[in-house]
Amino acid sequence: MIKWENSKYSEKSRRFLSKPPADFPLFTLLDGAVRSGKTLNIIQKIPQIFEFVGNEYLKVFSGYSRNSVKNNVILELKPFIENYLGGRVRYNNSTGEMDIRLFGKEYNCYVTGGGKSDSLNAIQGGTWDFWYANELPRHNYGFYNMALSRLTPANARAFADSNPESSNHWLYLEKIKPYLEGKDKDVFEYWHFTMYDNANLSDVFIKNQEKLYKGVFKKRKIDGLWIVADGLVYDTFKRDKHSISGAKLFEKIQKSEIAEYFLGIDWGWNHPTACLLLGHGADGTCYVIDELYSAKLDFEGVIRWINQKQSEYGKFFSYANCDNARPEQNEKLRRYTNLVIYEEKPKVEDSIALVRSLINYDKLIVSEKCIHTLEEFGLYSYGSEDVPLKINDDCMDALRYGLYKYLTEN
Ligand SMILES: Nc1ncnc2c1ncn2[C@@H]1O[C@H](COP(=O)(O)OP(=O)(O)OP(=O)(O)O)[C@@H](O)[C@H]1O
Ligand SMILES: [Mg+2]
Repeated sequence: MIKWENSKYSEKSRRFLSKPPADFPLFTLLDGAVRSGKTLNIIQKIPQIFEFVGNEYLKVFSGYSRNSVKNNVILELKPFIENYLGGRVRYNNSTGEMDIRLFGKEYNCYVTGGGKSDSLNAIQGGTWDFWYANELPRHNYGFYNMALSRLTPANARAFADSNPESSNHWLYLEKIKPYLEGKDKDVFEYWHFTMYDNANLSDVFIKNQEKLYKGVFKKRKIDGLWIVADGLVYDTFKRDKHSISGAKLFEKIQKSEIAEYFLGIDWGWNHPTACLLLGHGADGTCYVIDELYSAKLDFEGVIRWINQKQSEYGKFFSYANCDNARPEQNEKLRRYTNLVIYEEKPKVEDSIALVRSLINYDKLIVSEKCIHTLEEFGLYSYGSEDVPLKINDDCMDALRYGLYKYLTEN
């Protein structure tokens, strides 16, 4: 627990803490190095923000999971409010309900996890006037959008903290990059922290932290840079060259410029299931048209998605090539969809080589709708051996399965 009476403040954190709530835009992000004081600056700001926002609407705290919010935020927020400000915090970790009494007002709060694709269900409906997203990049993209849309009162305020991730991450592409280019400044504000902006850390502590991280993780966690990892499997994939807007691709579909539609599926449960809708044009260009990316999704959800996409695009899909580790799921697809179902798991090196050559000839184009696929292109990397790491590989596997089948038959 922090002894707030001993706190030291850097110039940046003073500037953040003394800025009047009314002068913050709707959404403020604090990002940067680990241990740079992002979370504790927000915690200290909360009482003032609450006072400004009032207590008419719900206030939401989210993180990757409810427990991560409890550990990263509530554990410091509660003693801060109770021991230093004379307030009271009642928190029920099983329901997520949190009531904060402070300076004569009662604030109704809700704590929830935002990291899973089913997290949205918990937050549909209702109006919020405050949102704190702890470790925002770890939130599900749908949750993030839903959360922003709940913040309708004129004086609503949202704060988030984050460590840098890949520069292909949606948070970087949609918020930070435009901000750095001078756009969107009326609704979004960006504060970048280094460890030197946390006056409570000793030089020895900083030196030790620096030793913990290497390579791309050092650049992200210490230098606070949003960069793509080294040793990328598809290092020649360039977003500006190899992606297309959803609208433009839809136009091609309507003009029948795509000859055949097929799917690649990588089953998961705790890891997400990834299902990519692929297509190829007459000139052999392959398109990633749409993606389904979700953990804890059963075969019925996948079938629903396939059928819904067939009517959305007005096309029949000819086949799916699926991960062969789940034959019972594949059997369900065989029974309940009109697709031919293959279970041909290609060798990793072979299928990667095929996908790479498509990319090198600029014959693989990905819809900007497919945010997880695009993100994985910037993350999917080799480990110490010449074997890709088994992380950030769900869409990449689905892509290999789908394309391999097409490329080896044609
Ligand atoms: N106002 C403060 N008073 C005392 N100690 C502080 C204060 N702010 C930060 N610290 C110290 O710095 C550490 C890091 O702060 P904090 O957890 O806010 O950083 P962070 O940027 O959120 O880090 P991470 O990226 O790891 O989540 C704290 O654990 C605490 O020891
Ligand atoms: Mg933090």
